[in-house]
Amino acid sequence: ADTLGAAAEQSGRYYGAAVAQQFLGEADYAATLNREFNSVVAENAMKWDATEPSRGQFTFQGGDQIVDHARSQGMEVRGHTLVWHAQQPSWVAGLGGDDLRQAMLDHIRGVAGHYAGQISSWDVVNEAFEWDGSRRQSNLQQQLGDGWIEEAFRAAEAADPQAKLCYNDFGTDAVNAKSDGIYAMVQDFLNRGVPIDCVGFQTHLSSNADLSSYQANLQRFADLGVDVEITELDVGGSGSAQANVYRGVTQACVAVSRCTGITVWGITDRYSWRSDETPLLFDGNYQKKEAYQAVLDVL
Ligand code: XIL
Repeated sequence: ADTLGAAAEQSGRYYGAAVAQQFLGEADYAATLNREFNSVVAENAMKWDATEPSRGQFTFQGGDQIVDHARSQGMEVRGHTLVWHAQQPSWVAGLGGDDLRQAMLDHIRGVAGHYAGQISSWDVVNEAFEWDGSRRQSNLQQQLGDGWIEEAFRAAEAADPQAKLCYNDFGTDAVNAKSDGIYAMVQDFLNRGVPIDCVGFQTHLSSNADLSSYQANLQRFADLGVDVEITELDVGGSGSAQANVYRGVTQACVAVSRCTGITVWGITDRYSWRSDETPLLFDGNYQKKEAYQAVLDVL
């Protein structure tokens, strides 16, 4: 196969990109997306601030544009993200206790309900753990206590029974205290019948990333009985150092049968969120980089 999506498809996986709807009208952007990728995720358009700017007033323009584009191209759509401590609309900030719980549940119902049946997997909860494996002290954690994550998963399950439901985080690229904490939560959820189907590994890396336990870490989650997904891959640096890290991540996913796909966090270096770096597979002029070939060779 000579595109990322077609190569990934040969082993039943997807190869996706984060998309910002404002660039879909740019010919090279759309052409590269359509040619290379068979899955998309909204870089920002499905987040809480974008979808519910005032309480109870939902706006789906950006997300719908991305879903429509994906559907016209036969691509899968990942959902990102229902509940997160960041990019919350300002009205959420002052809410306490039961009010915040109600707002969170209504938000999940509103967004997951709107996209029900169209999302392959939802990042239900994003970035809820600290480096030491404890819970991040977000407004959600402080106001709602430990139960908020399972409440979010149960609400997502009710709103979209077809989507796979993922927990997603960064810095979980190794067997470490943070991934241990998440592992314990997933194990507990599965033991108690809390609906969870997958764990997303963001995989925002630098060129000197230590991948020595990356595959083993994916595998231990898979062995618990969930799928694993590489959800936001990008790698700092350039040239062969960068290509080597991309290669290592790809090899790990391909070696784990429950690693269902890889999403890179953008298409071109031109629009990467890491604005002073060049962390993606296509350069600022949409030319394939060394890392692109490394990925394609392994898929
Ligand atoms: C980033 C987007 O790429 C930026 O455009 C936005 O300004 C901030 O959020 N982890 C996540 C993503 O889960 O949602 C973040 O996306 C990058 C880090």
